[in-house]
Amino acid sequence: MTEVVRVGVVGTGWWATQFHLPALQENPSVAVAALADPDEHRLAAAADRFGVRSRFLDAGDLFASGQVDAVVVATPHATHYELAKGALACDLHVLCEKPFVLVSDQARELSAMARARGLHLLIGHTYRFTRHARQARAMVRDGRLGDLLFVSVLFASMVEAYYRGRPEEYSEVFGFPVTGPGRRTYSDPSLSGGGQAQTQVTHAIDMVLWVTGRRPTEVHAYMDNRDLAVDLVDAVAYRLDNGAVGTMGSTGSLRPGQSQQQELRYYGTEGFLLQELIHGQLSFHGNDGTVEVVDPLSDDEVYPAGATSACLVDLIMGSTENLADAESAVATVEFLEAAYASARSGRPASIGSHAAAEHR
Ligand SMILES: NC(=O)c1ccc[n+]([C@@H]2O[C@H](COP(=O)([O-])OP(=O)(O)OC[C@H]3O[C@@H](n4cnc5c(N)ncnc54)[C@H](O)[C@@H]3O)[C@@H](O)[C@H]2O)c1
Repeated sequence: MTEVVRVGVVGTGWWATQFHLPALQENPSVAVAALADPDEHRLAAAADRFGVRSRFLDAGDLFASGQVDAVVVATPHATHYELAKGALACDLHVLCEKPFVLVSDQARELSAMARARGLHLLIGHTYRFTRHARQARAMVRDGRLGDLLFVSVLFASMVEAYYRGRPEEYSEVFGFPVTGPGRRTYSDPSLSGGGQAQTQVTHAIDMVLWVTGRRPTEVHAYMDNRDLAVDLVDAVAYRLDNGAVGTMGSTGSLRPGQSQQQELRYYGTEGFLLQELIHGQLSFHGNDGTVEVVDPLSDDEVYPAGATSACLVDLIMGSTENLADAESAVATVEFLEAAYASARSGRPASIGSHAAAEHR
């Protein structure tokens, strides 16, 4: 069994420097062996802060270096596909940040590639690693809800300044110990693939699909960019493969100091389940009058930012299951891809049955 996993971090921006690198450095099973970023200033700032000697301007050189067993890809959304593919091609295990990729064919390709090569490919769907996510999933899968009928989500968060290319507006909220996000990372559609849906709805719909174990079959979306180049508000109606229907409402317009709202409600023939992600609430309400309120999550449990990289390392050490596997994350990419297509066309978008069947 591997004793120490040599991890490289690709993209030394906000998320990598505030969360992944500290978590990796605290992990006794990890050696942070190399960093890559084409921005020499960001690369140097991160490498100096975390004491990493091996630095690459080109991620491909890191992949081919033989210095790492695995990589964390924490770069702008549109770069995920090529980087994850390049790493897998060099037989490296990969944690790829969310959104996995922007095109569902690419998601299926990477998932198949990892499987064929016997590599772990994990997606940065952090919320799956909470106690409540696992409990909600078990309740739905154990049949407590009966047949799933309807899912409703409201996801309101504070992201607008990122979509405006003004990340400094959140510096007091996040602290940005090394660097904040690049101005274009979330505001330029050629890098982000979109706004609120790619950046935030991805969390919410991934939770719905993971908890229910269902796949989307049809999506009808309205999106509004306001004066931005990317969507700020999204309203999506959809159908799942068991016939259940759902709604997803999301806005990135909250201001610093306002309480976020991340409410997921699952209704079945036997009762309903209420899950609040950011405030850590979960309860089941049976049609027979049963009410089960699950212990709330502590502040530390609500968003376990280090859990994804820890899972990657544990997988390589052979001691855990992949809670955020690429195969199940394909459905989330399908949903987002169809939502943008529907918003563009003004019509519902179907999700190919061949894709759903292949990954069941
Ligand atoms: N799981 C979560 O909750 C969560 C939270 C925040 C961000 N993220 C994700 O993390 C990723 C990075 O976001 P961020 O806020 O840190 O952005 P950022 O702009 O701060 O950092 C991105 C970095 O990637 C670098 N980069 C660009 N192209 C590259 C390439 N080809 N090879 C190597 N590096 C490259 C940029 O120079 C930059 O330093 C995004 O996918 C984002 O959605 C996930």
